[in-house]
Amino acid sequence: MRGRVLALLLAALSPAAAQAQSLAGALEWLPPGSLSVESLTRHPEERLDGEEKQNFYVEFGRLAFRSPDVLGGTARKAGLSCQACHANGFATTAFFIPGLSDRPGRIDVSHAFWNLRGEDGVDNPLEIPSLRGVKTKARFGHDLRMASLREFTRRVIVTEFSGAEPDTLLLDALVAYQEKLQPAAAVPVPVTLQQDLADLLRYLDALRVPLAEEEPALAGRMTVMIRGQIGFIHERFVEQDMRGSRAVLEDWSRRLAAIAAQAEAGQWPQARDALKALRQVIAAPPPALATDLPRTLYDAERLRIWLVSKPVR
Ligand code: HEC
Repeated sequence: MRGRVLALLLAALSPAAAQAQSLAGALEWLPPGSLSVESLTRHPEERLDGEEKQNFYVEFGRLAFRSPDVLGGTARKAGLSCQACHANGFATTAFFIPGLSDRPGRIDVSHAFWNLRGEDGVDNPLEIPSLRGVKTKARFGHDLRMASLREFTRRVIVTEFSGAEPDTLLLDALVAYQEKLQPAAAVPVPVTLQQDLADLLRYLDALRVPLAEEEPALAGRMTVMIRGQIGFIHERFVEQDMRGSRAVLEDWSRRLAAIAAQAEAGQWPQARDALKALRQVIAAPPPALATDLPRTLYDAERLRIWLVSKPVR
């Protein structure tokens, strides 16, 4: 047991990447056949220019890239984020939504399904591009219609996926993150709990910035995003007898909500201490998580079985 926990901890030190496609959200909001076991259990290994040494903009952008609440409408409800289509900055080649895709890896992004206002009346799925090397590109979009990555990103959020107008910091961050996506060959690696936990630590480290700056709005926004990521882990612990693991994750989420409330109330030293304490807990997670892990939906075969056992709506 302890050996496994140790392995988990050691693995948590390696560069990591999260999955960002919600199971529950997708089952509720996307047509049957939209969830791909392949893209939920494997993704190309993340490669960032500068690897793990990044500034706050990149770290916040990395979190936002994985957060459905940056988008609006159906995408948000279905738990889709930039990461769902552009896994770790590559193209998610297995991405497929019946009715909106003609082939895997292609999707209609000018469709009323995403945004009533963006519907162009044409059935026009487009290839999901890799974002690798966008930093050096002069024009964006399949028709090269836009000359600015920042403008394109804003358009993706607001026009394609009916999200709220992004503020300056959010756009700066999403652009900073995308500019770190160096050209690289896609090397498929499994989506793992170890990586997701390592990512949580990374998000908590980024959260230190608004707590140090005493910026309640940003602290609040980031805790919502991080709690969303904990939710993605939570929904993989589906079995009845995994209540203990789910309670652990729920506790982390509640502790983040409490940190946001302390920030809101101007209790900065308390908020910073609470973050430090939470970080310690997540860095050495209770053994229940590792014990349950082999039977969770991180396992491709279990996920496959779980998906077919879902009633078709
Ligand atoms: C449902 C799938 C989907 C989601 C979610 C999504 N994209 Fe895309 N993205 C696409 C498709 C399809 C295109 C091609 C659109 C085009 O060519 O006009 C694209 C194109 C792009 C491009 C242009 C790349 C180039 O080389 O021209 C950028 C940049 C981009 N997306 C960033 C983002 C960001 C940032 C997010 C999240 C805020 C996001 N995308 C969310 C599917 C998606």
